[in-house]
Amino acid sequence: MDPSTAFRLDGRVAVVTGAGSGIGRASAGVLAAAGARVVVADLDLQSAEATVAGIKDDGGEAMARRVDVADPDAVTALVDETVSGLGRLDVLVNNAGIMIRRPLTEVGPEEFDRVLSVNLKSMLYGGQAAARVMRPGSSIVNTLSTIIDFATAGTGSYAAAKKGGEALTRTFAVELGPRGIRVNGVAPGWTDTGITRERHVDESGRFWQDRFDELAGRMAGSSPLGTVAEPLDSAYAVLYLASEASRFVTGHVIRVNGGASMA
Ligand SMILES: NC(=O)c1ccc[n+]([C@@H]2O[C@H](COP(=O)([O-])OP(=O)(O)OC[C@H]3O[C@@H](n4cnc5c(N)ncnc54)[C@H](O)[C@@H]3O)[C@@H](O)[C@H]2O)c1
Repeated sequence: MDPSTAFRLDGRVAVVTGAGSGIGRASAGVLAAAGARVVVADLDLQSAEATVAGIKDDGGEAMARRVDVADPDAVTALVDETVSGLGRLDVLVNNAGIMIRRPLTEVGPEEFDRVLSVNLKSMLYGGQAAARVMRPGSSIVNTLSTIIDFATAGTGSYAAAKKGGEALTRTFAVELGPRGIRVNGVAPGWTDTGITRERHVDESGRFWQDRFDELAGRMAGSSPLGTVAEPLDSAYAVLYLASEASRFVTGHVIRVNGGASMA
């Protein structure tokens, strides 16, 4: 028996949201490299197309779609068009996310709602749409965050969304388990991506490399391994949860944070 076959996704169809950048892009690439046809969905169509170009250069199969995951109709259309165009949906990675840093005492209702819509409600919409079309053996993976284990100033709305995402992950797992659909989460640690870089861009558009490096150094220090994550680290966890290799794993959260939290 060759254990690597358990990680293959030949003949499967995957949708990855927020796949125009960072962890979503790496996840789409890894799923495609494992044999899946991948729908690369993002609010930014150009970045999704760039991800698709990279996958095709590597010999994989992928197509780009624009989606706003905060819009339930758009998420439903993404899933339905995937099934009508590619015949099935085996893997959904609810990965798109945003972070707006502001103390909870200053967060307004619209901003709070936007953070919850993109990070949390999207997992509800995606899970509902996928549940309508997925067959037994399918897998839903939600991108959470190490923030589910910590409280830090300025990240309250994001933390509320990700902690809520953990609750949705577990409840969907219970509700969809009898139908053979697994639902799990990946909680990345601090990773060099768009989200972590944009914090160090000022109003003039200047990127403060020294501040970014200083924070990356501090984040590396929070891991017993002494480094920060690369997008590929979470992508490998996504592949595991998407594939037969994890066929008896559901309602679980894999923390890809170098041991920064061990809940
Ligand atoms: N980078 C980190 O340190 C880190 C840590 C923990 C969790 N995460 C989570 O990982 C996921 C991926 O983020 P990333 O770090 O790769 O950041 P990123 O900014 O590089 O990628 C996020 C992608 O989501 C897309 N997006 C944003 N809003 C969207 C919307 N409404 N609809 C569709 N697409 C949308 C963006 O265009 C972008 O391509 C997010 O859920 C994030 O919260 C990141």
